[in-house]
Amino acid sequence: MTTADWSPAQYRMFADERAQPFHDLLALVDAGAVGRAVDLGCGPGELTVLLADRTGATDVVGLDNSPAMLSSAAEHARRGVRFVEGDLGQWTSGHDHDLVFASASLQWTPDHPAVLARWAAALAPGGQLAVQVPANAYMPSHTVAAEVAHREPFLSAMGGAPPADPVALNVLEPEEYAQLLHDLGFARQHVRLQVYPHVLPSSRDVVQWVRGTTLTRFQRVLEPELFERFVVAYEAELLRQIGDRSPYFFPFRRVLLWGRLAH
Ligand SMILES: C[S@@+](CC[C@H](N)C(=O)[O-])C[C@H]1O[C@@H](n2cnc3c(N)ncnc32)[C@H](O)[C@@H]1O
Repeated sequence: MTTADWSPAQYRMFADERAQPFHDLLALVDAGAVGRAVDLGCGPGELTVLLADRTGATDVVGLDNSPAMLSSAAEHARRGVRFVEGDLGQWTSGHDHDLVFASASLQWTPDHPAVLARWAAALAPGGQLAVQVPANAYMPSHTVAAEVAHREPFLSAMGGAPPADPVALNVLEPEEYAQLLHDLGFARQHVRLQVYPHVLPSSRDVVQWVRGTTLTRFQRVLEPELFERFVVAYEAELLRQIGDRSPYFFPFRRVLLWGRLAH
């Protein structure tokens, strides 16, 4: 086991592409109505500050469980915006938030019906829930990682049981989220599947992209030298399947969901 953590620098490599779904999610929020907000799985913090600015929220907490992300986020703390360590899967509060926001983070935790019920319980009357999750587990960027993880020497190094893809395990269909929002009492809702048409300089850049996200689960359990060998094997298999092309069109499917409770 290594002590590898998220890398804010690696994550920021595609900052514009990663920020677009955040902006689209934020656009769903009724801005004037937000005083107290939480950004669950806030990452390096820049977008949490943007959330505060755009919604006019006066009390915003960014929560994350990565020490590296939190230390980067700490640089963005200011009056009305603070960052705390915590587990978004367990987070809840007592009907006292106007906005519970989570962009590209819910996928890391299981049992979305139970988690969303806890998040909904944190909302005051008229409160809003806004969540965005990737829905791309079927893409080569993800399936190749699982394939290579089942090869030696990686499989044995991971005790014969590589960590599964959280997106494949945890993310529900859009209509299942719509049903959950209905069952949780959201009077209004908007749920959609959106394809982000990223154009990367080359197919090899997919490797840099996933190093900042889905491959982190292997980085946590492999020794650094073996993890680098894993990345080399991943790149070779990925290029075999998607071709070595420049530029590379990288379609990325995501689910955006928003709901607002009645007053
Ligand atoms: C892909 S980043 C998203 C960051 C930011 N929300 C954005 O839109 O760019 C996912 C973040 O979720 C955090 N995270 C993953 N699992 C978590 C958990 N169980 N509790 C709290 N944070 C978690 C990671 O540390 C990481 O910062």
